[in-house]
Amino acid sequence: MTAELTEQEIPQQSEEDSTPAWLTALRDELDPTSRRRLAALEPRPDWHCLEIGAGSGTTARWLAERCPAGKVIATDIELGSLSRQVAPNLEIVRHDVTTDDFPEQSFDLIYARYVFAHLRSREADLARVVSWLKPGGLLLLEEPAQFPVESARDDDYREVSLATLEQYREQVGTDLRWPRTFPAPLLDLGLQDIGVEASLSVVGGGRPMSLFWGEALKGWGPYVVSAGTASEEQVERAAGLMYSDDFWDLGLATMAAWGRRPA
Ligand SMILES: C[S@@+](CC[C@H](N)C(=O)[O-])C[C@H]1O[C@@H](n2cnc3c(N)ncnc32)[C@H](O)[C@@H]1O
Repeated sequence: MTAELTEQEIPQQSEEDSTPAWLTALRDELDPTSRRRLAALEPRPDWHCLEIGAGSGTTARWLAERCPAGKVIATDIELGSLSRQVAPNLEIVRHDVTTDDFPEQSFDLIYARYVFAHLRSREADLARVVSWLKPGGLLLLEEPAQFPVESARDDDYREVSLATLEQYREQVGTDLRWPRTFPAPLLDLGLQDIGVEASLSVVGGGRPMSLFWGEALKGWGPYVVSAGTASEEQVERAAGLMYSDDFWDLGLATMAAWGRRPA
């Protein structure tokens, strides 16, 4: 089932953008590399594309500009920020990838960033997603991976970050070890012409990934403290490091993998 917004329901772009700070930070950190990876797949002007869990929608809008004779559908379960993106060939759809469908063989390109790592049913969901690709269609996934944080030198940053990820895992189902297995999930789905790439981020000094992770550490801090895996002081210090000009370390990596549905 899909629930579509009609044209009249789509809010117009407003000057007052209430996109959450963490989503803006993610956009600032990741959009340039995502655009490079998408451009390398050479989208044709008439392609039909899908972005799942499009968040602030900046990449979907960029893709719509690349495919002026085609169409881009951008989905999310939360349309607050996404609905601000307006383009003639961009359709915003409220759609839960774990329960809602699209017709089989609908898309030339399907893209998702930082979505499937959060879904407990990610493997079954991805199998359905691949069925929405036309034969010869492409899937590009970009997902966050925790491996650079596991070797961080600062004890508070490392321990509080890993304790936060443990809470994510218990409460949401998020698994930031899964993307480190790329491209295995795409190979398992029978995709061909596989590619894989990793990019690192730097935290400290209020850089975009710092702002994203600082918000996560602050937001999950009370759960980490009540689980007894870090003290309140540790959480406060680790979150503070994200904004400190004197702190440098690696943040989450992004694992990208792409592949083609056999023709
Ligand atoms: C970490 S954010 C990433 C947003 C965007 N892809 C980006 O990279 O900037 C995860 C996004 O996935 C959406 N999401 C979570 N569960 C979803 C689901 N079951 N179906 C579709 N979208 C989902 C969230 O609402 C959120 O916008």
